[in-house]
Amino acid sequence: MRFGAAYYPEHWPRERWPIDARMMQAAHFNTVRLAEFAWTRLEPDEDAFDFGWLDDAMELLGAHGVQTLLCTPTATPPAWVVEQSPDILPITPDGKLVNFGGRRHYCPTQTSYREHTARIVHAMGQHYATHPHVIAWQIDNELAGHVDQCYCDACQQAFQQWVQAQYGSLDAVNEAWGTDFWSEVFTDWTQIPAPRYMHAQHSPSLVLAWKRFYTDVWTDYFLFQKNLLRESGVTVPITTNLMGLFRDLDYYTHARALDFVAWDNYPNNYPAPAGKYESAFAHDLMRSVKDGKPYWVVEEQSGAPGWNQLGGRTGPGYMRLMTYQAIAHGGEGILYFRWRTCRFGVEQYWHGILQHDGRPNWRYAEVTRTGQELRALPDDLFTARTPTPVALLYSHDQLWAHGIISHVPGFDYVGEQLPIYGALREAGVDVDMVNEESDLTPYRVLIAPAWQLLPADTAEAVIDFVRHGGTLVLTYRSAVKDWDSVIWQDPLPGPLRDLLGITVDDYDALGVQQATVGVHGCGSFPLPAGLTGTLWADVITAEGADTEATFADGWYAGRPAITVNRFGDGQAWYIGTHLDSAFWQSFLKELLAQAHLPSADATSDGVEIAHRQGERRYTFVLNMQQIPGWVELAGTQTDLLTGDAVGPGKVALEPFGVRILT
Ligand code: GLA
Ligand code: ZN
Repeated sequence: MRFGAAYYPEHWPRERWPIDARMMQAAHFNTVRLAEFAWTRLEPDEDAFDFGWLDDAMELLGAHGVQTLLCTPTATPPAWVVEQSPDILPITPDGKLVNFGGRRHYCPTQTSYREHTARIVHAMGQHYATHPHVIAWQIDNELAGHVDQCYCDACQQAFQQWVQAQYGSLDAVNEAWGTDFWSEVFTDWTQIPAPRYMHAQHSPSLVLAWKRFYTDVWTDYFLFQKNLLRESGVTVPITTNLMGLFRDLDYYTHARALDFVAWDNYPNNYPAPAGKYESAFAHDLMRSVKDGKPYWVVEEQSGAPGWNQLGGRTGPGYMRLMTYQAIAHGGEGILYFRWRTCRFGVEQYWHGILQHDGRPNWRYAEVTRTGQELRALPDDLFTARTPTPVALLYSHDQLWAHGIISHVPGFDYVGEQLPIYGALREAGVDVDMVNEESDLTPYRVLIAPAWQLLPADTAEAVIDFVRHGGTLVLTYRSAVKDWDSVIWQDPLPGPLRDLLGITVDDYDALGVQQATVGVHGCGSFPLPAGLTGTLWADVITAEGADTEATFADGWYAGRPAITVNRFGDGQAWYIGTHLDSAFWQSFLKELLAQAHLPSADATSDGVEIAHRQGERRYTFVLNMQQIPGWVELAGTQTDLLTGDAVGPGKVALEPFGVRILT
């Protein structure tokens, strides 16, 4: 278990460092994250390295039992680097230059930036390769944050090469993207544009390819640094910090390059705090993109966050609760952001554990208490996994394709996911996220909202999943297109027509007029009364599937709205409209019960439950609200935090209270 904070000794006088080290030790810290923005300090001028201050800080901290997650500082190239190589500055889609100042003012493709990167990373790697207090490395910081993609000539050229490597021939690209539209046929690789500003829209296939390309760009930049560190003799694990539900990087692909996942969690971020279950969802995604391996949160919100305005209200108990939520979903390391609030710079109101004044405060007391509790928990808890038979398809390719063409106002891919995710949590099951490349064999239930891009080989895997007893739930806008975002010429749902036993003949874009349609249950599966479809309605013909609900309005009144097809040993559901959380809660509870999957212990509203399975099974009960709550247990269990035997019956939870039961 790793516990600590991001620490910036360079922001404080040296006389303060020993006080910080003592306070950290007293708070049961064993780890700090250092140096991720300290390039000017480490290399004030080309090849003039100064590691002395960092050596001293690491030594002092190490002597207090606090080891280091060491970062490469490439998110913030110094002014002298930019002066020397102005070509590193990124270009926005509309051709603007991103200037020096702030951070991420670099293009990851530029050769000159690779050279600057190589110099600093190599020097750091060599200097710290065998340092006894360096336990892991973080490369850069939040790759793709602020400047997700650069549109300079070098990036455009790299894109052309990427397309060539992916498709082989120009004919293949033209065919796959359908460029014979608006005279976009390419006759030379150099004609393929980065999707820079233009007054109409670029081809959806091209934009999708560009997004995929840019995940590879950032991953390549990560691996470039990782290799430099390895060449320098670094043997400890190497990671970078991901951003949960960040939309511009395919984290399944990206995480393959990492030795373990680390990520930054700001549930109370500005301007809008995370919605219900959003943090849990992000934790599960961060665990899932690395096949369930325990992860670290390397920036856990501590004080109220905000750059120009303070966004979050957090009171006592919240930080501790968020810490346990991270562990509940598979975390094995928690570093808060940041140790002490900075007096200057853009983030002077992004609050850390300590205020600007550095005195022990209520947050410090809470962190200390949490650190003490964590120390007393069994090691097994932190390496335990989260085996679950239920998977939710969350795919960045789908997210992008839906984002490029979103069908109707109000449609959002993540917005389709969250009500389903919330309903699964309320039904008491843990959830893995999967994408098209995931192995489906561990799962018995797969829910895939708006699974739009569904190429033939994926369709085969899905058909197999159901044939062997799986339960599949798809919603409207599924199996509409191939992997290049081109619509099937066969009737929809394309390659899944037999599996689903339906044809989608037409559809009605309700969202434009904010129209609604009634949905009435008519089959044997119990559905709630008074359902209302919004956003979209598919006009369906059942061809072998059972109709469980029909539309009550529109020119397709009486036609199927919800169908299920028994196929092989399994069943495939299709839900032809957008339905709300209440529907999903009722539907999934019943579906899971019919599949004999466990149901949740009853709780008061706002209590979340998650499990980890190690030598023992651990049940985390988290009261997400600042009012008393309860959980009702069937038997007696031990609360690892208090040592008490609790249950059977109702067990109380304090406001923001936590119990870890086993
Ligand atoms: C991100 C960054 C940190 C810091 C915080 C607060 O998560 O990684 O460096 O900027 O946000 O803004
Ligand atoms: Zn570029």
